[in-house]
Amino acid sequence: MAEFTLPKNSQIQPGKHFPAKDAKKSRTFKVYRWTPDDGQNPRTDTYEVDLASCGPMVLDALLKIKNEIDPTLSLRRSCREGICGSCAMNIDGTNTLACTKAISDCGGGTVNIYPLPHMPVVKDLVPDLTHFYAQFASIKPWLRTQSPAPADKERLQSPEDRKKLDGLYECILCACCSTSCPSYWWNGDRYLGPAILLQAYRWIVDSRDEDTGSRLDDLEDPFKLYRCHTIMNCARTCPKGLNPAKAIAEIKKLIVQRRSA
Ligand code: SF4
Ligand code: SF4
Ligand code: FES
Repeated sequence: MAEFTLPKNSQIQPGKHFPAKDAKKSRTFKVYRWTPDDGQNPRTDTYEVDLASCGPMVLDALLKIKNEIDPTLSLRRSCREGICGSCAMNIDGTNTLACTKAISDCGGGTVNIYPLPHMPVVKDLVPDLTHFYAQFASIKPWLRTQSPAPADKERLQSPEDRKKLDGLYECILCACCSTSCPSYWWNGDRYLGPAILLQAYRWIVDSRDEDTGSRLDDLEDPFKLYRCHTIMNCARTCPKGLNPAKAIAEIKKLIVQRRSA
């Protein structure tokens, strides 16, 4: 994992205040700010945004801040459709996607915005996902086969087998679930966490994959899999409505079945 060292006293300080000029409908956003190379502590800057000239989503407000008020603010985004997963952040205490979170759903008062929790920060709202992606690569997330592919068509599966991927293939790897999981906060160096385990299960139940045994062997480890204590934060926070805890339980069940077979 890349090292991004926070200043020794990393207490978050109140930062600058950017009032809205001539706003018709003002809403206040408090945003976490931290720059790795200025020697300053993290702070929260306060921006007043005129919602009369802003799109409806939290991402719209952040882009308005960046484009019109404070270009030094850093954040990730790409699709603004809930597909790429790059705008994941903590909004009013919940990990979610800024592009699908409506400002009107943020409750009254100030909207508080922080990067995904318990991850190293690159800058402001940008978390360092190097370790998360390395964990994803470790499960070899592709179709593993030994038999030769049919010469004239792709490897097919029945509609029933295809259905087994529902609730799994929709995962966009936003990391909202893993960064809401206390077990991942404490043991993220070795515990794979809900997002990666859901992805692992996606390949385990794929009828076309021919490496199920070794996928299960790889996961049968006190840390990689068995740090899940069914706390369920993952399922509660997933912005795509998925249930990683269920996928983890299914992996454990398959390992038990295999042992007793
Ligand atoms: S399971 Fe949900 S919260 Fe977790 S990475 Fe996938 S889409 Fe994001
Ligand atoms: S159910 Fe498991 S993976 Fe999900 S938040 Fe709880 S401990 Fe983490
Ligand atoms: S910008 Fe792609 S999910 Fe939000």
